[in-house]
Amino acid sequence: MSEPLVIGIESSCDETGVALVRGRELLANEVASSVEQHVRFGGVVPEVASRAHLQAMVPTLRRACEKAGVDLSEVDAIAVTAGPGLMGALVVGLSAAKALAVALDKPLYGLNHLVGHIAVDLLDHGPLPPRFGALLVSGGHTSLLVVDDITCRVTEVGSTIDDAAGEAYDKVARVLGMGYPGGPVIDAAAADGDPRAIAFPRGLTSPRDLQAHRFDFSFSGLKTAVSRWVETQRRDGRAVPVADVAASFQEAVADVLTAKAMDLCAHHELDAILLGGGVAANSRLRGLLEERATAQGVAVRRPRPGLCTDNGAMMAALGVEVVKAGHRPSSLAIGANSGLPVSTVLV
Ligand code: KG4
Ligand code: ZN
Repeated sequence: MSEPLVIGIESSCDETGVALVRGRELLANEVASSVEQHVRFGGVVPEVASRAHLQAMVPTLRRACEKAGVDLSEVDAIAVTAGPGLMGALVVGLSAAKALAVALDKPLYGLNHLVGHIAVDLLDHGPLPPRFGALLVSGGHTSLLVVDDITCRVTEVGSTIDDAAGEAYDKVARVLGMGYPGGPVIDAAAADGDPRAIAFPRGLTSPRDLQAHRFDFSFSGLKTAVSRWVETQRRDGRAVPVADVAASFQEAVADVLTAKAMDLCAHHELDAILLGGGVAANSRLRGLLEERATAQGVAVRRPRPGLCTDNGAMMAALGVEVVKAGHRPSSLAIGANSGLPVSTVLV
């Protein structure tokens, strides 16, 4: 059989993504973002995001088909994010996918957004190792995974007990008056700062915390520490060294994430680690993971930064694997699941 042609639809947060993937070849990846509409609120407003998805879905779908030079009738399967994410936003993509499945008489696969963040690397670096660790860092999730089979065996070994790393980025950017989303602006500002200027806390790394939370994360203390430090500077009439704060905060995040990812590899005897999710676009996280993994003899995989943030390609890439593995398609009756656990790859 020739490689399946899968259309991927993503609408879990503020990006409407539609992509076409044949096998491991990315034919088109169109993303319409509503981020501009959320900037003045300093975070995604669910109702606004849902309406934007509704407006963007059909034009984005058309653009993807045009770019790929593909007619919808040629598509073998429809892959769509079924969760986790914002309920109203998910429903738009899922409804579009169901409509396509009915109209084209093609199978529907309701898939896990978080697993899509891992699968997308297939498009950049080819087949996945038989067993590997994954550090998943997005706007809403921060987890350590062991992946035995991307289509059906994904085990969460640890996760954040409070905020996700991306949330901490967004909050710190707000405190520094740098706008939204925080990740890219802090990443850029940190380039001119000293990562050792301020010693911010590394959550859940004390010997006592490690006993109960060896593979878990906590970023709420770090977020508060940065806010307090900045407030104290301002109260005392001192200028806030924005680049140093950004660099020191970023170092604390990257240090904890990579240290725990490496510990995961050592403990579970994994010789490959894959970095995924929006925060995986972060330059320091990418660099430090590479450095530490190389020192430990672990291979690192990470998608190009442009495929780290939400898009349709990640869902299409995962869809291809699920189709090739021969899993049963989803029922047309499936619903969106805003709290879908990462271990449920296919709904
Ligand atoms: O995976 P994603 O696109 O959406 C969710 O599924 O949540 O992740 C979005 C998050 C945001 O918090 C954003 O600030 C962060 O990814 N992000 C970054 C960078 N680019 C995006 N964080 C740090 N450094 C970056 N370069
Ligand atoms: Zn995401």
